[in-house]
Amino acid sequence: MSIASSAPAQARTMQQYYRLHAAIYDATRWTFLHGRRRVLEFLPKNKNQTLVEVGCGTGHNLRQLARLHPDWSLIGIDVSAEMLAKASRATASCSRRVQLFEKPYATADFRLQESVDIILFSYALTMFNPGWEAAIGQAYQDLKPGGHIAVVDFHDTPHSWFRRWMGYNHVRMDAHLLPLLEKHFTPETSMVQTAWGGLWRYCIFVGKKV
Ligand SMILES: C[S@@+](CC[C@H](N)C(=O)[O-])C[C@H]1O[C@@H](n2cnc3c(N)ncnc32)[C@H](O)[C@@H]1O
Repeated sequence: MSIASSAPAQARTMQQYYRLHAAIYDATRWTFLHGRRRVLEFLPKNKNQTLVEVGCGTGHNLRQLARLHPDWSLIGIDVSAEMLAKASRATASCSRRVQLFEKPYATADFRLQESVDIILFSYALTMFNPGWEAAIGQAYQDLKPGGHIAVVDFHDTPHSWFRRWMGYNHVRMDAHLLPLLEKHFTPETSMVQTAWGGLWRYCIFVGKKV
């Protein structure tokens, strides 16, 4: 189902961007989306958990999670039909445990049916412009008491030209995520790491809803 006409402007921008980029996403992004494997290592390892990945893209993380946790239920949400088509193929071998929804997160258009154990944002929140605060707030609502939010994303850069270039690609790099995450959730993991010799830094955060 197409959501192009009813989606908010941010979602429509993402749909247009990934209509072109979906084809080359997996072949190119592994070079700079650092920390995706690492954030999965910091997740709570309880049995039979339900995890939602908001902005699941091509299913890179969902495929890993399905392999690592055969008893978990996985939900992927994304606004891009092209990215979700790839996610559907990536998770085909475990499709009984993986549900995919083509919806913008944190809008009246989509609500989870019940609260969940873990919500993962992997290189998604810095593209929610506007909407990143609302998405963090919605994740708080969507988690069970004691549930966890996990985030891996760009943090900042000392180079204005790189910040501008990332801006053209709809990514905001203002070190803006961690303060709000640390305000709403009790941190269990919170780190900032350097990438590509200091060209930029990325953050990993796992926090608990209390
Ligand atoms: C950089 S990709 C990250 C994909 C994947 N999480 C990964 O780590 O490879 C960002 C994804 O977020 C999705 N996205 C952006 N805004 C969204 C929104 N409001 N609701 C749901 N998904 C969104 C985009 O369509 C895109 O697939």
